[in-house]
Amino acid sequence: MDHTLLISKLTKVYPTPRGPLVVLEDFDLRVPEGQFVTLIGHSGCGKSTVLSIVAGLQEPTSGGVILGGREVTGPGPDRGVVFQAPCLLPWLSALENVRLGVDQVHRHLSRSERRSLAEHYLACVGLGDALDKMPSELSQGMRQRVSLARAFALQPKVLLLDEPFGMLDSVTRCELHDVLLDVWQQDRRTVIMVTHDVDEAIFLSDRVVMMTQGPKARVGGIVDVPMERPRNRAAVLQDPRYYELRQTLLEFLGSPGAESETEVASSTVEAVPG
Ligand SMILES: Nc1ncnc2c1ncn2[C@@H]1O[C@H](COP(=O)(O)OP(=O)(O)OP(=O)(O)O)[C@@H](O)[C@H]1O
Ligand SMILES: [Mg+2]
Repeated sequence: MDHTLLISKLTKVYPTPRGPLVVLEDFDLRVPEGQFVTLIGHSGCGKSTVLSIVAGLQEPTSGGVILGGREVTGPGPDRGVVFQAPCLLPWLSALENVRLGVDQVHRHLSRSERRSLAEHYLACVGLGDALDKMPSELSQGMRQRVSLARAFALQPKVLLLDEPFGMLDSVTRCELHDVLLDVWQQDRRTVIMVTHDVDEAIFLSDRVVMMTQGPKARVGGIVDVPMERPRNRAAVLQDPRYYELRQTLLEFLGSPGAESETEVASSTVEAVPG
């Protein structure tokens, strides 16, 4: 079964008091199964809108999303979502928060299998000793670890991460990069992650998708990140290709003309799949 994610001619128009706002127009992207893609672009260009349409939380105005040959028409357990602020239920422990989703999605498993599954993913994110901790007893970074475990434990076809590390300090952020890559390396789910951080985008992903500045935002260019996996931060920082990629992305974000794909002149930029 092929779980390719196909975003095709996605257009989203919001009604506003000042008339219709065309946030996205003809946003096209194909993500092969198992690929880790990051989405970067200026604030307000429509990154979260793309993610929420793929999640099925919002409807596109036109165009659509196809996952594994089926059109996305609403939210479903084949797509796991993690937002910037970890939203855990405060009256449930870390394990119970993860169990909640696992119990719903993996109904065919026995009670003890479901418990092991939840424990496994909590251990993967480094919380094997904190299963019974309540959210109020956990740091912001630990809560985001629980959110990651909860999303991975659903074993969805696609994980949608909207700036999941945006509220964390840089040390915790780096720790969580390693955690995320570790779990991803085991399961190889398809990931689309939104980030503002160019270094984070390069370190984590197979491809970085650059969105043009809105309104009518679309894919302005895509760069491949060729560094081998598993990745090691020190090795990546020593790789001359890292600095070329960084330059390309920063130039794209910095150029006032980030609205047109012709502005991105670099040999690493692929043609945008149509
Ligand atoms: N429900 C809505 N109604 C009207 N306009 C909206 C709505 N949701 C988002 N917008 C507008 O659509 C545009 C894109 O919003 P979106 O949240 O997708 O951007 P973003 O790229 O995720 O921004 P950020 O980087 O700040 O998170 C913005 O101009 C925003 O004001
Ligand atoms: Mg956003």
